[in-house]
Amino acid sequence: MDWDTRYQNNPGYVFGKDPARFLLENRIFLPTPGVALDVAVGEGRNAAYLARLGFRVAGFDLSKAGLIKASRLAFEHGVAIQPVIADLTKVAIAPASLDLIVCINFLERPLLPVLMEALKPKGRFFMETYTKGQLKYSFGPSNIDHLLKEGELLELFKDLSILFYQELDNELTGAKAGIIAEKRH
Ligand SMILES: C[S@@+](CC[C@H](N)C(=O)[O-])C[C@H]1O[C@@H](n2cnc3c(N)ncnc32)[C@H](O)[C@@H]1O
Repeated sequence: MDWDTRYQNNPGYVFGKDPARFLLENRIFLPTPGVALDVAVGEGRNAAYLARLGFRVAGFDLSKAGLIKASRLAFEHGVAIQPVIADLTKVAIAPASLDLIVCINFLERPLLPVLMEALKPKGRFFMETYTKGQLKYSFGPSNIDHLLKEGELLELFKDLSILFYQELDNELTGAKAGIIAEKRH
């Protein structure tokens, strides 16, 4: 089932309304509120959280149903986000335009250099997604192309300053890697 149908068929929120634990637990690393992009925003749990903190947030996703729900969630919190229908395999983003990028549970390796270019100097990038260790669990993605190799995020982000890195592997969270990095200049 594609994401659009999944979001449409679910009267609630597929991933809930609360922000990803990775973002919430590491909020101390967030920069001063400015311009943020939530990559593959889905139903907006992370974008709505950032908007509540004072960020001006654009959320990119292919799913119109997801974007509608994301806007609704922000509205419920008395804030707004900018929902953008975009194919992240083709998108162009203005260089040095973003203070913050958040990318949770989405992996499109060729997009990462474009996103890094779009960060302002000292802009920060929060990314967390599944690793190949996830294949042993009965939930989450199973397409190997969408799973990180051990330590791969460290390699992908080697041109930025790494502020935080973790790999988790347990029944509760699944197998994931997360990184927080800052653009040097
Ligand atoms: C696992 S969900 C993650 C949602 C959100 N980041 C979160 O943490 O709640 C993956 C999202 O990627 C989106 N997506 C998949 N391929 C895409 C593409 N090529 N361009 C834009 N969005 C895409 C899907 O529509 C879906 O909303």
